[in-house]
Amino acid sequence: MKIRSLFRNILPRTLLARSLMILIIPVLLTQMITVYIFFDRHWGKMTDRLAYAVAGEMAIVAEQIENDPSPERISRISGHMAKHLDLLISYQPGAVLDTIPEDVDRSIVSEILGRALDQQVRRPYRINVDLSEKWVEIAIALDDGVLFVSSPQRRLFSSSGYIFLLWMIFTSIILLAVSILFMRNQIRPIRRLAVAAERIGKGRDMPATLKVEGAREVRQAAQAFLDMNDRIKRQISQRTAMLAGVSHDLRTPLTRLKLQVAMLGNHPDAEGMMQDIQDMEKMLNGYLDFVRGEGGEQAVAGDLNDILNRIVSGARRAGGDVILDSQGDLALTLRPMAMERALSNLITNARKYASHVWMSVRRVDDDVEIIIDDDGPGIPPDQYEDVFRPFYRVDTSRNTATGGVGLGLPIAQDVIHSHGGQITLDQSPRGGLRVIILIPV
Ligand SMILES: Nc1ncnc2c1ncn2[C@@H]1O[C@H](COP(=O)(O)OP(=O)(O)OP(=O)(O)O)[C@@H](O)[C@H]1O
Ligand SMILES: [Mg+2]
Repeated sequence: MKIRSLFRNILPRTLLARSLMILIIPVLLTQMITVYIFFDRHWGKMTDRLAYAVAGEMAIVAEQIENDPSPERISRISGHMAKHLDLLISYQPGAVLDTIPEDVDRSIVSEILGRALDQQVRRPYRINVDLSEKWVEIAIALDDGVLFVSSPQRRLFSSSGYIFLLWMIFTSIILLAVSILFMRNQIRPIRRLAVAAERIGKGRDMPATLKVEGAREVRQAAQAFLDMNDRIKRQISQRTAMLAGVSHDLRTPLTRLKLQVAMLGNHPDAEGMMQDIQDMEKMLNGYLDFVRGEGGEQAVAGDLNDILNRIVSGARRAGGDVILDSQGDLALTLRPMAMERALSNLITNARKYASHVWMSVRRVDDDVEIIIDDDGPGIPPDQYEDVFRPFYRVDTSRNTATGGVGLGLPIAQDVIHSHGGQITLDQSPRGGLRVIILIPV
């Protein structure tokens, strides 16, 4: 568990970064291993052998000069060496090799060469590697003088090692660039699909950028998503049409019934029947409201403040005690009529079941948070879920006076969900019910 969460923290978040990582890490590892093997095995061994050869030649020269240090002989040897072996030599009879501290030059070349000299020449020496001059100067102490040998660096080690390394880095960069380019193209349709799904979830239109494109699996997912969206739309419109039809059709016989009951005059049952008919009418109106909530209203850029002000001033005109506290920029993409219906349902509830209403609205990160408090009796917490079911009413005996249908909260929830938001109930510090709404911006 711990390891897994550690991995989750280390792993990059986006698909692009992850797929690049999957691609790049093995390549880098292989390159690193290759470079290591190349330098350690191949390049190292080669340099060893080159140094060995040069040291051997120097051993021969040193021995020859020691045997016969006459100037003619030395100039002959030096001529041969320069001509055939690229080594420049000179001899200073009577000179003494000044000992210098060991660790002045410990480059890898002088180390390898030093090892070879130790084995072959077996005399005190001094190496001077001058990388900029491309020459290596070696001074060897002979019995009666000092022998100076200059060797071109190409005789001692091959510079192809660095070129190899440069090529490795260069190809890695090319590979990275190419894969970023290709991967981004592969991932774009997935990102578009995600954006489309998010928008649909918030009840907005399908973005025009969603196309069935990309790799086969992505195309399948996009096609499935489009089909699913069509099916949901079809189902909703079927349901809406049926509900609207039923409600509408039932109204006519109900009106007739009302008329007939009215004609009964003061029949003992007439009053009860009339009450039932009125209840039925109210329910049908509720149905129609519910259905209208899902109508084809378009989401537009709007300001929640306008809606809030309209609702609150409406409630105040009707004699309600509503206190509104709204802060900051509340610009949102929303379906204004639906949103107004949802919020006014909640305010109506609060006014119906309580006497004071407090409403506070503010931006919290990427959401707009709406909190509605009242000082009424509230709802028992075990019924917080039930009250969102159509026609569910808490403790009907308490409600006979208030006479609702039980569609106010379900409609509100529908609207909030279709905006991609959440609605939850809680106990209010004011004593009654608290409704908390979060709508993503
Ligand atoms: N602010 C509130 N305080 C106390 N109880 C509430 C509050 N809001 C809702 N309720 C309870 O939740 C039930 C469901 O509310 P809902 O708004 O869905 O229906 P309604 O108000 O009864 O009828 P309608 O809104 O359709 O006219 C209500 O019957 C009521 O018992
Ligand atoms: Mg209500």
